Amino acid sequence: MKIWEKHRKRQWIGFYSGGYLAAFLTVISFSGLFMDFNEKGPMNVGHENISCDDCHQKAPGTLRQQLQAKVSYLLEARQTDAVFGHLPVSNQDCLFCHERANDPHPVYRFIEPRFVEKRKKIKAQYCSTCHKEHTGLRITNDTQFCQYCHEKLSIKKDPIDIPHTQLIKDKKWTSCLGCHDYHGNHIYTSPHKTSDMIPEEELIRYFKGLSSPYPKEKKNEPLKRRH
Ligand code: HEC
Ligand code: HEC
Ligand code: HEC
Ligand code: HEC
Ligand code: HEC
Repeated sequence: MKIWEKHRKRQWIGFYSGGYLAAFLTVISFSGLFMDFNEKGPMNVGHENISCDDCHQKAPGTLRQQLQAKVSYLLEARQTDAVFGHLPVSNQDCLFCHERANDPHPVYRFIEPRFVEKRKKIKAQYCSTCHKEHTGLRITNDTQFCQYCHEKLSIKKDPIDIPHTQLIKDKKWTSCLGCHDYHGNHIYTSPHKTSDMIPEEELIRYFKGLSSPYPKEKKNEPLKRRH
């Protein structure tokens, strides 16, 4: 074997073993393989009594299969990345218990191409945009997000004392939730007088986890268990 050939062979060996080593180290460091599945923070209001696997579904396959899949992904022999331990929590996990047939703002609606510009302002296609779990809160958004989609609203024969167009002109975006529940799941009739609105302070307290200012009766009650 010529000396340069030997040299090249060694380079290849080095390249491959280096590649495997790098892949292995990446697996170890990013997989969370050796991390405990400890709670991340307090459960959100309402979720005190549901269990971890109501939301965190086990990833398919054994640990060894998951590891093999990860290595093939890193070596580009597999197109999709492997998931360890648990799958990421998705809309579907939430909707399993919170299916609301008449939601005027269902997450899937906002996947449509016509909402591409709105999505840059608010990712209304994900529950987690407004409800982040393990924060102990109910709603992590501000109270003014209606502005991203309803800025051009005008209503014929507007029934309220200060018309919607006026509220919008004056940028009274906190007023909207004072008369409308976003998911429309409460048995609730929007008032016609701005003096009957739910005050903003009450909404903020509710967002943070205190009692709800909307009527208790709901059109769809959530399931209490998934399994
Ligand atoms: C109501 C649904 C829900 C329940 C119940 C729940 N979680 Fe979570 N958890 C989430 C969401 C959403 C995230 C955000 C990351 C994600 O999407 O996986 C998360 C993140 C985590 C993370 C961080 C994972 C990461 O990749 O950042 C850990 C650890 C965790 N949860 C543990 C628990 C444990 C332990 C329990 C039970 C005591 C529990 N969770 C119950 C929804 C839930
Ligand atoms: C196992 C079923 C289950 C799953 C899964 C679940 N929830 Fe819940 N959720 C409940 C129950 C039960 C309540 C308490 C409802 C009540 O008090 O009316 C609740 C309460 C809530 C509340 C507060 C309700 C209120 O009236 O203010 C929000 C917000 C919420 N869940 C969002 C989510 C989101 C987002 C997810 C996904 C990350 C999720 N839930 C997953 C069952 C579930
Ligand atoms: C753009 C923000 C936003 C998104 C996205 C969002 N929510 Fe909400 N959610 C709110 C607001 C605001 C309220 C309070 C008003 C109300 O009750 O509708 C609320 C209230 C709730 C409630 C209590 C009232 C009820 O309907 O029982 C639950 C449960 C809930 N959300 C679950 C979800 C789930 C599950 C998803 C995803 C499928 C989701 N939300 C997506 C903003 C959002
Ligand atoms: C991501 C965009 C988006 C956001 C944010 C949004 N909406 Fe809507 N909303 C819509 C769409 C789309 C409809 C369906 C009607 C339409 O096509 O104009 C709708 C419908 C409604 C309706 C009529 C419901 C019915 O039963 O006909 C009300 C009331 C409403 N929204 C109030 C609000 C309030 C209050 C907020 C803020 C808390 C809000 N919306 C935030 C997009 C949005
Ligand atoms: C004083 C209470 C009140 C306030 C404040 C209010 N609304 Fe309304 N809104 C109503 C009533 C009443 C209706 C008539 C339909 C009904 O009864 O739900 C309505 C209807 C709507 C509709 C349905 C329009 C249609 O063509 O059917 C949308 C969308 C809407 N409001 C969005 C908003 C937004 C966005 C804001 C904040 C700028 C807001 N509303 C503030 C009471 C209110």
